[in-house]
Parts: sequence; structure tokens; C-alpha cells
Amino acid sequence: MCGIIGYTGEKYAPEILIQGLKKLEYRGYDSAGIAVSCNDDTVICKTQGKVDMLEKKLENINMRGSVCGIGHTRWATHGEPSDINSHPHSGGKNVTLVHNGIIENYIELKQMLAEKGMTPVSETDTEIAAMLIESLYDGDPVKTIFSAISQMHGSFALGIMFRDFPDTIFAVRRDSPLIIGVGENENFIASDIPAILPYTKKYYLMDENEVAVITKSQVAFTDENGRNIQKKLLTAAWDEQSAQKSGYKHFMLKEIHEQPKVVADTISAYKNKTELFEDCSFDFDITGRIYITACGSAMHAALLGKQMIEKLARIPVSVEIASEFRYNDPILDKDDIVIAISQSGETADTLAAVRLAKSKGIRTLGIVNVWGSTLAREADDVIYTYAGPEICVATTKAYLCQTVVLAMLALRLGRHKMEDSQYCAELERLSSLSDYISKALELDDICRQLASKNLKAEHQFYIGRGQDYCVCTEASLKLKEISYVHSESYAAGELKHGTISLIVDGTPVIAVMTDRSRIAKTISNIKEVASRGAAVICVTYDDIDVSDFCRDKIVIDAPGEYLAPVIANIPLQLYAYHIADGRGNDVDKPRNLAKSVTVE
Ligand code: F6R
Repeated sequence: MCGIIGYTGEKYAPEILIQGLKKLEYRGYDSAGIAVSCNDDTVICKTQGKVDMLEKKLENINMRGSVCGIGHTRWATHGEPSDINSHPHSGGKNVTLVHNGIIENYIELKQMLAEKGMTPVSETDTEIAAMLIESLYDGDPVKTIFSAISQMHGSFALGIMFRDFPDTIFAVRRDSPLIIGVGENENFIASDIPAILPYTKKYYLMDENEVAVITKSQVAFTDENGRNIQKKLLTAAWDEQSAQKSGYKHFMLKEIHEQPKVVADTISAYKNKTELFEDCSFDFDITGRIYITACGSAMHAALLGKQMIEKLARIPVSVEIASEFRYNDPILDKDDIVIAISQSGETADTLAAVRLAKSKGIRTLGIVNVWGSTLAREADDVIYTYAGPEICVATTKAYLCQTVVLAMLALRLGRHKMEDSQYCAELERLSSLSDYISKALELDDICRQLASKNLKAEHQFYIGRGQDYCVCTEASLKLKEISYVHSESYAAGELKHGTISLIVDGTPVIAVMTDRSRIAKTISNIKEVASRGAAVICVTYDDIDVSDFCRDKIVIDAPGEYLAPVIANIPLQLYAYHIADGRGNDVDKPRNLAKSVTVE
């Protein structure tokens, strides 16, 4: 939520800030802005709308000679998307800053500042933070920042400039991510790694309760007692290419097509010829229950994980949305384990759920895509997905890798229930999974055709049972978030308990059938909607004949039934993509959304 970039070096700062903001735009695109040091002053340019609009506005502004600045792309929380509420915000005379997060006590701070005669011009919590720092400034930026954050409640990553220090960026964070990129005669701050990849792969992770002071030649970290902090310089595993569209029309399409590779990478990271997770520190001997907590698509992966783990390992699994889990006072036993799944590793509710579990002495495992993210650092153990940078706001490849990790986890936890030969056969199946994913990608044409048939439908339904219902939850979310078509996913047997009244002549219903033990039952449910006029598309195996009651069929092939839901997702991602694209939507940046939801 909100992207921050900062640059100090020898190059023209506005250009680098704009390029960085383009890479971070997936974090929010309600407005964009930059501030640079120029002619002994700090010049701000900002606008409602996307980074392209900022770039246009900048054409008329002279920032010549500026080599240091900060930038921001916003997902609005406090105050509507508007020019005035856009970042950077000025504190008055000396301080200019960009912010990701929420200052929860900004009303009290605003009142306190009003008593000093300071009045904000915007409706944002961020301007209050800028004014607070301004009010405390005594010539020592680091001391001032520590003093200000001791009065601020909530979450923040701040990139701050002081007019007195035109070539320096100051940074601080609490519960919102921030990294420091380290280049040759240039350094950066950024919310995420893709923004710095064109310039450097070297970076520091910022920790809480420290202030970074960044000039073109030096990065220094200081604690609140003024002591210097030594940190490890890290190297990003991702390359620049992986954060580019590479000829695809949208990042989403590119990321869907990357799935054979990223799934193969994820599997090979944790599988050798005879075993899974051999080098993993996680203790797979679980004697209690498993709780899986996550948000959005990651929660849908969790639902599938529950099916897989309960089937293969017979360990009871509860799945709870993280924003509910954290406030439900969950009944956790010391032998239970909490698994948190997150692409970004920065989702506020998921992090809070992990912190709650840890506070009760419960073991936690993070399944996470972003190296060094907060979840990766705070969970007791971590299993990484190897999806690489995911730029499209709607997840595809990261979600798929999550389902694959859960399938491996289910296998590993169920290992003692299997003969060695069966276990080895399952490992073989895993090894072939990415070939089946490649084959599923060949369904692109048929998915495009089906999408064009249903382009104008304003309501669509997804039905399935068990593991197939889990596929439906994700497929339905994918469709609605990028196409703005109303869609619902239903356990196939549940539809007639009310929702079937929404089915009218021509309503598209997508039925998923990969669990052979339930196909007969799902077919009955398909017939119920088909007889009421639904235009049913069935996603199932070649040998299942649905021609009498389904208008269309998407044929999938999978290496074993419990991996079939992973495959069934692929055509439904493509279907959602082509509907959104066919409707002329901004597929990679759907309205109102942001990737990485760092507020609750
Ligand atoms: C939907 C989507 C979201 C995320 C959710 C959790 O396409 O991407 O529903 O899955 O916001 O995000 P992470 O996985 O970063 O915790």
C-alpha cells in the first residue's frame, strides 16, 4: 500500500524517481508525486492519478541539476485521492516527506500542532507527521526523527528530506517495509526490491527503531542513542528482467506464463530424489492442529492446503482469514502450529495473526515470497515460494506457488502414512507438475474464445466440491477483481439453498470437477443450473462426458488427483484475464486495489 522511492547520487533525480515509481505503482495508484532538492530549495510536483500523469506534469517544471529526491505513489487511506492529498507533504519550511502506512493518533497530534499555530492544508495523516517533525526540528535530523516517532502511533515507512541537508535522505520505519539500495556513487530507498533493480542488486533491510542517513557515498544506520548500527549488505536474488513485461501485453499474462518455471523452481528448492524439505529447519512432527491464516488469494491457497493436508496427512486443519483470526481470541493449544501465507510478507493482518500466535507461545511457519520481508523475519520458520517479483496487483504465479508448497507440505506430513514406493511415486508426480502447467497454458485460445462469449455477462458463478470448490474461490476472486464482473463461488451442493434464484437464461456458470469421487454429485448440481438456463463451462478431464448439460468444456490433465486443482487454476486465470482485457480494463492495476496491504 503506497510505494516509496528515494534517490541520491549524480544522475538526474526526477527521471530515476519516475522510473522507480513506475515499478512501485502496483502498490497504489491514486496519486503520485516527487520532491527534489533544487537551487537551495525543495521543489515538489504531485498530482492525482497515475505516474504517467505525474510524468506529463513534470515536463513543465524545471528541476535542472537535481540529484537527490523522494517519490511516492499512493493508495489513499486518509483523505480522498486529490492533488492536495498527494505525497510528498511539506511540514512547513524545512521538512518534506513521503509515507507508507497510517499514523493512528494523527488527530491528537493535529490538535497539539494547532496549539502551536500549525495548520495542515490536506486531510492526510502524513502531513501531520511532516509538521510534527518540522515542529521538533532543531538542526539535528536524526535526533528530531527519533523524537517525532516516539510520539507517533501506527505504521509508517518514511522517506524524509531536510532543506538544510539537500543531498541527504533520511529514512525510518515501523510495521511498513523499506529497503536501502546501495549503488556506485548513488544510493536509494524503496518500498520493494523491483524499484532498485535497474541500478543495483545490493541492499540493506531496514529494521525498526533505527534511522538511516543516506548520501550518494554513504549509508549509515543509527539507533535512538546515537550509536552506529552495522548491518549485513544483501544481494537480491531477483533480476531486472523478472520485473519487466518482456513483450507481454500485461504483467498478469507474463506472470501466468512464468508459472511452469516458478513452480519448477519452488519444487526443486525443497525436493531431492527421495525427500522433501530435507534442509528445512521446520519440525514436521505435528501433534496438535494446524491453523492456516492469510488474506485474499493466499487464504484461498490455504483452503486448498487444508484439503490436501487433511487428505494425505489426516491432521486437522482450520483456515481462518487473518483479519478475523487476530480478533477471534483463537483457542490455541501448545502443540498446535500456525501457518501464515503471504506473497508480500507485509500484509498487516497476517503479521498481526503471527504475532498473536507467537505471544501465546505457538509455533509459527511463514510461507512467503519476498525474501527478508517482515513475515519471513518474524515467523519461527520460513518456506519461501520462488515466484520471483509479482507486479500485477492480482496474484497468479505467487498464489500457484503457494498451492504447490502446500501440496509438498501435505505430502511431507503424510509421509509416514505411505509406503516408500507410494511416496516416491508422488515425488515423481511433483517433478512433472510444471510440464502439465505448460500444457495447461496451451488452453489460452479456448479461454480467450470463451471469454469473448461471456464478455458482456454481469454475473458469473463458479461451482465445485471439496478441492474444486477451493479452486472456484480463487477463480471467482480473479474474475471480479480485474474484470469488475460480479461473481460468486459456491460449494456446488450449496447453490440451491438460495443463490440458484440468481441463475437466469444465459448466466455463465463455471463448474470445476477434478475430484473423481465427487464428480457424480457435481454433475447433479450442474444439471440443476443447466435446466434453469445456465450456460455451463466445465473444467474437467478428457474422459468425463459433459456434452449433454454443459455448453463448453475445458479439458485439463494432471499428474495425480490432488495436484489437479493446481492445474485447474490455469485456464481460469486465463479466462479472467481475457474477460478483463476484452472489457478494456487496466488489468495490472484494477481500480481501488493495491498490492501489499500494509494497513488493516
Ligand atoms: C488477489 C490478491 C490478494 C492477496 C492478499 C494477500 O489477487 O493478490 O487477495 O492475495 O492481499 O496478500 P499477500 O499474499 O501479500 O499477503
